[in-house]
Amino acid sequence: MSGHEGRCVEPEDLRPMSKVTYFSGETFPLEMHKVRIIQKLTLLPVEERLRAIDEAGYNTFLLQNADVFLDMLTDSGVNAMSDRQQAAMLQADDAYAGSATFTRLHDKLREVFGKKYFLPAHQGRAAEHILSVAFVKPGMVVPMNYHFTTMKQHITALGGQVVELIPPEGVAVTSDNPFKGNVDLAHVERLIAEHGPENIAFFRMEAGTNLIGGQPFSLANLRAVSHLCRKEGVRLVLDASLLADNLHFIKNREPECADWSIAQIAAAMADCADIIYFSARKLGFGRGGGIVIDDDALYRDLRAWVPMYEGFLTYGGMSVREMEAITIGLDETLDEDMINQGPVFIAHFVNEMERRGIPVITPPGGLGAHVDAARFLDHVDQRQYPSGALAAAVYLASGVRGMERGTMSEQREPDGTEPLSHMELLRLALPRRVFTLSQVNYAVDRIHWLHANRRIVGGLRWTEEPEILRFFYGRLAPIGDWQHALVAKFREDFGPSL
Ligand code: F0G
Repeated sequence: MSGHEGRCVEPEDLRPMSKVTYFSGETFPLEMHKVRIIQKLTLLPVEERLRAIDEAGYNTFLLQNADVFLDMLTDSGVNAMSDRQQAAMLQADDAYAGSATFTRLHDKLREVFGKKYFLPAHQGRAAEHILSVAFVKPGMVVPMNYHFTTMKQHITALGGQVVELIPPEGVAVTSDNPFKGNVDLAHVERLIAEHGPENIAFFRMEAGTNLIGGQPFSLANLRAVSHLCRKEGVRLVLDASLLADNLHFIKNREPECADWSIAQIAAAMADCADIIYFSARKLGFGRGGGIVIDDDALYRDLRAWVPMYEGFLTYGGMSVREMEAITIGLDETLDEDMINQGPVFIAHFVNEMERRGIPVITPPGGLGAHVDAARFLDHVDQRQYPSGALAAAVYLASGVRGMERGTMSEQREPDGTEPLSHMELLRLALPRRVFTLSQVNYAVDRIHWLHANRRIVGGLRWTEEPEILRFFYGRLAPIGDWQHALVAKFREDFGPSL
């Protein structure tokens, strides 16, 4: 078997509630909520956008939010809260130790994942830190479907090595494989035999695999990995940060689960893992994170790190208000009408771009739409960061802020060599329940214009390159003077329009 289990249903067969067929026969996403609090946005003129991106060193992370029209940088910590979440926040029990709020969150996690213990942490990477310091020793390997930036940094900083086990098809830009986040099972067996279970810190499966375009794995694949890990005595860790999208895709693409409730699928996934960690900035529409475990000894091993790095065991760096919001947010994650919203809007975003000839990752995944910068800017050398250049150019063209997910997001090897990323992507995240369909359509239109004028866009070079997680706060400059040419063309084509 090589990562194909569970394939059978085309993404077009999605039957979510938040999509309706119009009288004309066309199908459109439909919001299953109404907006009751709004935030005013500004769309700066293109000349002002040039000033802003220049001041930001052509790195969209360094833009001021006030200069951004649609913030599609991430879905992390910026999902819209519901009325129920806001109401619960008012009832939070403020206590350092033994807060009733913590108990409510703990009970909810026990209900969703069926595991006894919860160790709170201030966000996902804090959970990654605890798991890494507890398990990773120099020379150990950590196999996974695909890496995530912060987890990889923790592992390598401790002398461990990340090994990725998705087949090449997982990083193919266009595909009809509904489960591109699946691992190659033959490779798993080979890897365990080659290194020996004692040299494997843990096996990590990332739901809604972020860096390959928010792509899911199937329940069948997770079960098979779990079976192999248990047979060999390797701990299986599930990164559940993007679990909501993966749950939706399993229900809609894996025939065995078509009639299951989202809660049943979540429970079946949790049964496969020894440890589950998550960023509640993504899962649960709040801000926080933590680790869920069932095993008494594991709990005792990991518990010690929480008061040291995060805070006491009943808050772990989270505010009680956020913990209340996450408790309700987890309930909403089990409501298919609520979690459909993201993937259905993303599918619309992706399909509309594809229809206009813009190269995008297919099938549409979770988290956001992902533009293939390698093809969009095929005249820009990978060492001149086409994904970063495209992120800057999209901001110039539209005021939309996306995120570079390509070579800039890689880390240099200890000898200074720069690995080239498997994929050069511009991620346009859709925070859950935040944007309307007309805002998505506006983004499609401006990216379409940019695609028609893509030859104007050139590459970027570092002017300041930090050693650690350089993409977050490094500064760059355009190679040549393409930014001015792009602004001039925008004015020529759009006249006085924003
Ligand atoms: N795991 C996954 C799959 C993630 O996507 C993230 C964060 C983390 C762990 C770390 O969680 O941010 O709460 O510390 N992803 C954010 C993003 C940064 O924009 O995709 P965190």
